[in-house]
Amino acid sequence: MQTKPIEMTLRPGLEGVPVTQSSICDIDGAKGNLSYRGYPIGDLTAQSSFLEITYLLIWGELPSPQQLRDFEGEVQMHRRMSFRVRDMMKCFPATGHPMDALQASAASLGLFYSRRAIDKPEYIYDAVVRLIAKIPTMVAAFQLIRKGQDPIQPRDDLAYSANFLYMLTEREPDPLAARILDRCLILHAEHSLNASTFSARVTASTLTDPYAVIASAVGTLAGPLHGGANEDVLAMLEEIGVPEKAGQYLDEAITNKRKIMGFGHREYRVKDPRASILQSLAEELFARFGKDEMYDVAQAVELEASKRLGAKGIYPNVDFYSGLVYRKLGIPRDLFTPVFAISRVAGWLAHWREQLGANRIFRPSQIYTGMKTRKWIPPEERNSSSVD
Ligand code: SDX
Repeated sequence: MQTKPIEMTLRPGLEGVPVTQSSICDIDGAKGNLSYRGYPIGDLTAQSSFLEITYLLIWGELPSPQQLRDFEGEVQMHRRMSFRVRDMMKCFPATGHPMDALQASAASLGLFYSRRAIDKPEYIYDAVVRLIAKIPTMVAAFQLIRKGQDPIQPRDDLAYSANFLYMLTEREPDPLAARILDRCLILHAEHSLNASTFSARVTASTLTDPYAVIASAVGTLAGPLHGGANEDVLAMLEEIGVPEKAGQYLDEAITNKRKIMGFGHREYRVKDPRASILQSLAEELFARFGKDEMYDVAQAVELEASKRLGAKGIYPNVDFYSGLVYRKLGIPRDLFTPVFAISRVAGWLAHWREQLGANRIFRPSQIYTGMKTRKWIPPEERNSSSVD
């Protein structure tokens, strides 16, 4: 029960308020450092694979070679989705946003699997495998279905990221493209208590099933202030058009108090370390497959924005360069956030498992600012009050 009087200081957006203890991810926002279970993100992105860091995030240690082979094999075996989910997707409007399709499809998995065994490690393992395996299949399936085609089955001979690109584009990807996507998935997998992970923990704290937890987090990630910014960055770069117009665009946006998409962060006061790595991945892709003409515009925006906003600690975040990488990989723009979700499922599941390990249902307080007790007014005595 309540241990000490609640501090009644309002903290909008819970800024700076610790609401849990976690050993999954550490961020040093002043220095721009990020680590998963103590391993720096730069080492993991260079040395590891998405499935290996998924195992690390969820179970806390890098897997042995046998453990990794087993985990990869289980994920590979569970990539297919039920025809019922596929047929449900065929009822979705083709004009619907893929994040809405993903949220509905992820939630539907809860219909197929019992929800009452979340205290059993084998249930947790099975749920992790199913979600990590099936989310990419769902994202790729909706892409084909909304084009009026049947989705294609996963290929067991392709590794995780290569298989996703294959299911999405119907072509076996270049090994460099698959490796770069896998490194993007590592970069986006986890970021402590961001909004969607907080959603996941709040939902998990009610002991509902993991599919509802992931559906809740997908819905939160979709917002333009969170995972949805990567789409908007490209639109902004295209609106600016040429590097020379970056300064003028920024001045006008700042004057009108419009947020610059892909910039700023609640934690980082310097350039997001993931943005720097994504920039180098973009350059690696451009060197092989040709440069995206928006890259020069992006670099001009970064330079001009840092002059104008750097003093406030506003620099590029993870969403600023990711869209240029994804576009070069042939991923449609409105799938950029679903790709972010494919990756972040690993972090959400790590927090789900951690929450179950030391659970207390989230139920914060509020400062009531409404009306004091009032006398009932019969309908005939009421006048129409204006509602905004
Ligand atoms: C992600 O939390 C995470 O870890 C998220 C994430 C993850 O991996 O999960 O890193 C992924 O969500 C990245 C962020 C993607 N979103 C965007 O790029 C949208 C644009 N960014 C902003 O909306 C904003 O920077 C946030 C939402 C990211 C952070 O918002 P905060 O911490 O609530 O900051 P704020 O809105 O209170 O702004 C503080 C000041 C304000 O100026 P003042 O009123 O004090 O003068 O900074 C300004 C803001 O106007 N500011 C910006 C700005 N971001 C903050 N000004 C211009 N452009 C921006 N992008």
